[in-house]
Amino acid sequence: MTTMTKFKYSKRVPADGTDAVGAILKAAADPKIISFAGGLPAPELFPVKEMQAAVDKVFEEHGQEAMQYGAAKGVTALRELILQHVKEKEGVTGALDNVLVTTGSEQVLDLVGKAFVNPGDTVLVEQPTYLCALDVFKSYGAKFVGVAMDEQGMKMDALEDALKAHPETKLVYTVPNFQNPTGRTMAVDRRKKLAELAAKYDVYVLEDNPYGEIRFAGTHVPAVKSFDETGHVFYMSTFSKTLAPGFRLGWVVADEDVINKLTVLKQSADLHTDNLAQYAVVEFLDNNDLDAHVKEISDLYGKRKQLMADGLKKYFPAGVKYTNPEGGMFLWVEVPGVDDTVELFKECLKHNVAFVPGDPFFAGKPQPGAFRLNYSNAKEDQIKVGMKQLGEALQEAVNK
Ligand SMILES: Cc1ncc(COP(=O)(O)O)c(C=O)c1O
Repeated sequence: MTTMTKFKYSKRVPADGTDAVGAILKAAADPKIISFAGGLPAPELFPVKEMQAAVDKVFEEHGQEAMQYGAAKGVTALRELILQHVKEKEGVTGALDNVLVTTGSEQVLDLVGKAFVNPGDTVLVEQPTYLCALDVFKSYGAKFVGVAMDEQGMKMDALEDALKAHPETKLVYTVPNFQNPTGRTMAVDRRKKLAELAAKYDVYVLEDNPYGEIRFAGTHVPAVKSFDETGHVFYMSTFSKTLAPGFRLGWVVADEDVINKLTVLKQSADLHTDNLAQYAVVEFLDNNDLDAHVKEISDLYGKRKQLMADGLKKYFPAGVKYTNPEGGMFLWVEVPGVDDTVELFKECLKHNVAFVPGDPFFAGKPQPGAFRLNYSNAKEDQIKVGMKQLGEALQEAVNK
C-alpha cells in the first residue's frame, strides 16, 4: 500500500531515494540475459548436506542454547575458532576480547561507521571501492577522498598525500585482497607501509577481507593487520564466501576497547548474531575440512576466471584493458572511448549480457567505460557464450 503521506526521513536516507544498482541487477535478472553483474558465490558448492548434518547435531546436543538469546560478542567456541583461523591464515593474533561475531561482515562496516564517523569526517577509500561501504559511511555523513590504485593496490604515496591534505581524516577503508570491484591485491610492502602510516597519522584502517582465502594463483600475502603494532588496524572478514552468505556470519578483530564499543552499538542494532547459525558453523568446522572446501571453491573460480579472460582476449575490441585477478570473484574492464557506461550497459542488455557499470564504485568522479564482471556465479558454458555476446556489444559500441 502506498499512501499520500510525505514522510520526513532522516538525513541518513539517500535524498534521491533511488537504488541505481538494484535497478541494474533487476534488469540483469531477466532469464534470457547472461549476467556477470551480481556478486554471488557458486551455489552448487554450498555444503548443503554437511550443514544439514551439523544443524541436526546442534538441535540434538544444544537445541535450547541455540534457540535462546545469546551473548552479544558471539558464541565463545566460534570466536575461538575464528581467532585460530585468522592466526593460521593471516598472521593476525589476538585474544577472545579482540573478536566480535557480526551479522555478516556488512555489519562491521555499519558498526565502524557508527562508532567512528561523525558528519563531515573524512574517510579515505580506494578509487574505485566496494559500493556498499560508500553507502554505509555516507549514511553517517562521511566525506570521501578517493586514493589512486594501480595493479599493486592502493598507492601509498597517494595515500600519504591525502593524509597530509586532509589531517581531519578518521578512517582509511581498504579491500586488500582481490578487491571488489577490481580484483586487485595490495602488495606486501604497501601493507607494511599502510600500517605504519595509520600509526604515524593516527588514523584507523578498516581492512575488509572477504576474498583473501579464495586464491587460485600466486602466493598468499599477509594481512595489513599482521603488521599493526599500535591497534590502528581493524580486521574484518566473513564466512560468506568460504561457506555460504545465507548464514550472515562475519567478524571483526580489533583492540579490546574498540570491540567493547562496537559490541554496545551492535546490541542496539540486533542484540546478537543468529545463535543457530553460529552453533551450526562451529559444528561444521569441527567435522569438516574447511581448507579442502575452500580449495574446491578456488579451483572452480580459477577455471571460470580463465574462461572469462580467454573470452576477453578473443572477443573484446583492441585497446580494452582488464585486470587479471589471482583470486576472488571479480575482474575489472576499462573500455577506452566510452563516455557513458550506463548507456553501454543498456546496449549490452540488448545483446543479452550484463555487468555492473563502474560508476557507483567511485567516491568521486567515475572513470568512464569501466565496469565489473563477476565470474563465480556463471556456469562455464554461460561464460563462453556471454563473453562472445559482450565482445560483440563492445565492438559495436566502440565502432559507433
Ligand atoms: C568488499 C566486501 N565487503 C563486505 C561484504 C559483505 O559481505 P557479508 O556481509 O556477506 O559478510 C562484501 C559482500 O560482497 C564485499 O564484497
